[in-house]
Amino acid sequence: MDIRLLQPSDLPLIQHANLENLPENYFLKYYLYHALSWPQLSYVAVDASRPRTSPYDHPKIVGYVLAKMEEEPADGIPHGHITSLSVMRTHRRLGIAEKLMRQSQRAMVETFGAHYVSLHVRVSNVAALRLYRDTLGFTSDKIEPKYYADGEDAHCMRLDLAGVRAQIAEEEAEQERLLPLPAANGKEDAAEEDRDEGEPVGDVGRDPAAGEMKKVKVGRSLGVGTLVEKVESAVAK
Ligand SMILES: CC(C)(COP(=O)(O)OP(=O)(O)OC[C@H]1O[C@@H](n2cnc3c(N)ncnc32)[C@H](O)[C@@H]1OP(=O)(O)O)[C@@H](O)C(=O)NCCC(=O)NCCS
Repeated sequence: MDIRLLQPSDLPLIQHANLENLPENYFLKYYLYHALSWPQLSYVAVDASRPRTSPYDHPKIVGYVLAKMEEEPADGIPHGHITSLSVMRTHRRLGIAEKLMRQSQRAMVETFGAHYVSLHVRVSNVAALRLYRDTLGFTSDKIEPKYYADGEDAHCMRLDLAGVRAQIAEEEAEQERLLPLPAANGKEDAAEEDRDEGEPVGDVGRDPAAGEMKKVKVGRSLGVGTLVEKVESAVAK
């Protein structure tokens, strides 16, 4: 199973999956709006075992998460929102929804600096409630009465993303620790840097009117007091 970013060509397939799995359905342009506005946040699970028989063969999408950033957050805090999540019946209880959610949550923090993520879920949706509350750690803020078109109430849930932010910072610190710092380079590296790898340039660029050039000693080993360039120019006068 591959979890990868949603591509615009996947949209009809996730619309199909949504129609199969949920009563909340959307026009194709709403999916497109997500894909174009927040392309980093929506993911699909693709059955990688299914061989591609032709270039026109479409991938078998078995799950998706459609997510966005709240455009005008009432509390002024940047946060993400899960618009839709579903996994095909044939592929449930394999951890796909959890992976899709975690991937999207991370992208919300990394890309948009989201502080939390919110969502709505039917009060009767036991599977989704278990996933959100027990597996992912969401809490129920309040119940919104008659949120759904058929009159069912919704839990308004949210998850603080401070944990995700801390994990990303930890990973970055670890990566920095493993990378060799320039100061740690030995003498060999310094010598390597000083080595002149260029071909001799001959007379190219030399000004014939400048006359014979004087040889001067140069080098890092010279102290300021013994700057040979100065001494030789004094002799030449
Ligand atoms: C809810 C849904 C997305 C879960 O997808 P999934 O890939 O099967 O979920 P996961 O395998 O990642 O499950 C993670 C955890 O969620 C809980 N969970 C998932 N399905 C469950 C079920 N049917 N009953 C009870 N708990 C369930 C479990 O705690 C599970 O962990 P476990 O398998 O180690 O016990 C899926 O059932 C679905 O698509 N349902 C229809 C659409 C829907 O309701 N979407 C949510 C709208 S808000």
